[in-house]
Amino acid sequence: RPTPKIEALLAKMTLEEKVGQMAQVTLDVITKGESVYVSNEPLELDITLVKEAILDHKVGSILNTANNRARTPEQWNAIVSEIQDIAVNQSRLGIPVIYGIDAIHGTTYTAGATFVPQQIGLAATWNRDLVRRGAEITAYETRASGIPWNFSPVLDLGRDPRFPRMWETFGEDTYLASEMGKQMIKGYEGQKNDVSKPTKVASTLKHFLGYSVPYTGKDRTPAHISEMELRERHLPTFQAAVEAGAHSVMINSGIINGIPVHANREIITNLLKGELGFKGVVVTDWKDIDNLHFRDKVAATRKEAVKMAINAGIDMSMIPYDYDFCTYLVELVKEGEVSMERIDDAVRRILTLKDELGLFEQPVTSLADYPNFGSKDFELAAYDVASEAITLLKNDGILPLRKGSKILVTGPNAHSMRTLNGGWSYSWQGEKVEEFAGSYHTILEAIQSQAGASNVEFVEGVAYNHEGKYWEDEVKDLDAVIAAAKRADYVVLCLGENSYTEKPGDLHDLSLSANQLNLAKAAASAGKPVILVLNEGRPRLISSIEHQMQGVLQTYLPGNYGGDALAAVLFGEVNPSGKLPYTYPMFGNTLVTYDHKPSEEQNKMEGMYDYESDFAVQYPFGFGLSYTEFDYSDMEFSRGSIDPDETLSISVSVTNVGNVEGKEVVQLYISDLFASVTPDVKRLRGFEKISLKPGETTRVSFEISARDVAFVARDLSWTVEAGEYEVNIGELKSRFSITESKTFNQVKKIL
Ligand code: IFM
Repeated sequence: RPTPKIEALLAKMTLEEKVGQMAQVTLDVITKGESVYVSNEPLELDITLVKEAILDHKVGSILNTANNRARTPEQWNAIVSEIQDIAVNQSRLGIPVIYGIDAIHGTTYTAGATFVPQQIGLAATWNRDLVRRGAEITAYETRASGIPWNFSPVLDLGRDPRFPRMWETFGEDTYLASEMGKQMIKGYEGQKNDVSKPTKVASTLKHFLGYSVPYTGKDRTPAHISEMELRERHLPTFQAAVEAGAHSVMINSGIINGIPVHANREIITNLLKGELGFKGVVVTDWKDIDNLHFRDKVAATRKEAVKMAINAGIDMSMIPYDYDFCTYLVELVKEGEVSMERIDDAVRRILTLKDELGLFEQPVTSLADYPNFGSKDFELAAYDVASEAITLLKNDGILPLRKGSKILVTGPNAHSMRTLNGGWSYSWQGEKVEEFAGSYHTILEAIQSQAGASNVEFVEGVAYNHEGKYWEDEVKDLDAVIAAAKRADYVVLCLGENSYTEKPGDLHDLSLSANQLNLAKAAASAGKPVILVLNEGRPRLISSIEHQMQGVLQTYLPGNYGGDALAAVLFGEVNPSGKLPYTYPMFGNTLVTYDHKPSEEQNKMEGMYDYESDFAVQYPFGFGLSYTEFDYSDMEFSRGSIDPDETLSISVSVTNVGNVEGKEVVQLYISDLFASVTPDVKRLRGFEKISLKPGETTRVSFEISARDVAFVARDLSWTVEAGEYEVNIGELKSRFSITESKTFNQVKKIL
């Protein structure tokens, strides 16, 4: 919230100074030599260019990192200090710069930092505490590097595996993503959002709104979303995060129903700042004001694009390469096309963020205050998160593996830190692995350390072609794989994806590559049990080989300790407890989420079709096996019916009926049996992760309110309807009823 200090500062500022605060440029414009995104030379600021940005153009924010990422926290801290020195000691008003970065699964641009799983893996833990812990570590190490603003978390839903940023999401479900998003914000910002604490960073909710569901599945292509769908599925994750106190929001680069979101006042001002009451900073995505002119063609000139975006409610432009934005915006204000109130609102928000981060008092943190940077404790926590993410999808009694057996490890993902981390970690697209060599291991190295190197043979079989497109792979020698498989007791086959991010990750085919499928068939042809280890950011189709696998494990993009965590699962040191945060599709042309409409289950439409329909999924949402088994019993409701303003307790007993200790995710789904808008077949409305020793029983309770089953009705009101609702936990089912209908609140049309 703005303070008298901020108001006093605002009153002293010239128009040019205000507009400068709204400008964010990339590190590339203030550094020496060729672009930091391709250069492998050491990063060096060009002080003349820094002064040009901050003193001449009065720029208030810098973002990003460089290709040669293996910089120490000392070096990062020094870079930010040099920038702040000019801003604080040489500019007229001494306003500190705010530096922003994508530390999306750890402070991945800083050597020695701790990398936790990417968000899709965090979601697979279904463990709120671990998600928060991961974010706490990232906040600590990011702030140690002198950077206070993190462009994370992603609260878009991963409902379409064709979308190349699915791995950055918490998966397909609104409730799971909302719960995890809230924890991530607590981890970044602290329980009370006191980001002035030197161990905290400001979080950024992105990409508001509806970014992840383009019609073609390809990044930044148009989306067609209904008002109901937008409000019921895509908005709640952001709403929960705004209520959790997040400090900034980044806007969706795409177009919804024909209108680029960066130019949509209904979405940015009316919905986000108005209806949701968001008080923080709204920043654009990369170059997205210019995109209104060059790409999306809604603005005839670049200047008109600035006018549209600022009037739509943008506070800061990630320009990021030049200063024309500042020139245009000053002119627009002088011409009366953008009001001074709008500028003041934006600048007030930006200065308040800087103030709340404590940047006026301490523009850069002191590294000496961060003794835990890259500590063993952090490493163990990251290992725990990776361990709980790993999801056992198939086990024909083959797992856990016997120690002392002979193992063939094969596949392009077997010996790569780059693929374990994915995305834009390890340099811009990931070539700098060797500089990060630490105490973590590739999958191969981790299996060697568990099984003894002499028991493990490695034949790569298929390798990624790092010189070509990210998805290209090439066959090395399949005969060598078959021969080695014959010598082994088991084959651990590591397939999946190379790292990619954003547009370059667009896909033409959801299937695993032909080379990898051929490798799988070759490995299976030797007649030895094959355990398929998937290391991928989204579910790539495996239906043509799955029946030949005796075990299947999903690792997602588990981070630096994913190899060790996987090996521990393979040998039974860790009992797997991850559950899929998405529906694993069987076919590419029938992508369906678990919360679909009844008519999408065509195979259940008796009498119409008597063949297996396209609906078949490989593995359902929420699925994941364990080395033990859990029994559910005695589901009880505190009452059989409730009024629309009442709540209901639902409890159930869970028993570990196997021989080993294990963790279970107790999932509660509710089905609205009949409604005036066709209901989804079911919706997740509660989950709890518990740990049980063999023979142990515990009781798990959930509190459900009628509001939890409300939906957006035809008249655009959040409504609950009288009728019966079915609750499903494990295999148990029971019903309660809601006595009367109620409209909770009417919403305004935004699309
Ligand atoms: O934060 C990211 C965003 O998610 C995608 N475009 C670039 C931004 C800054 O790096």
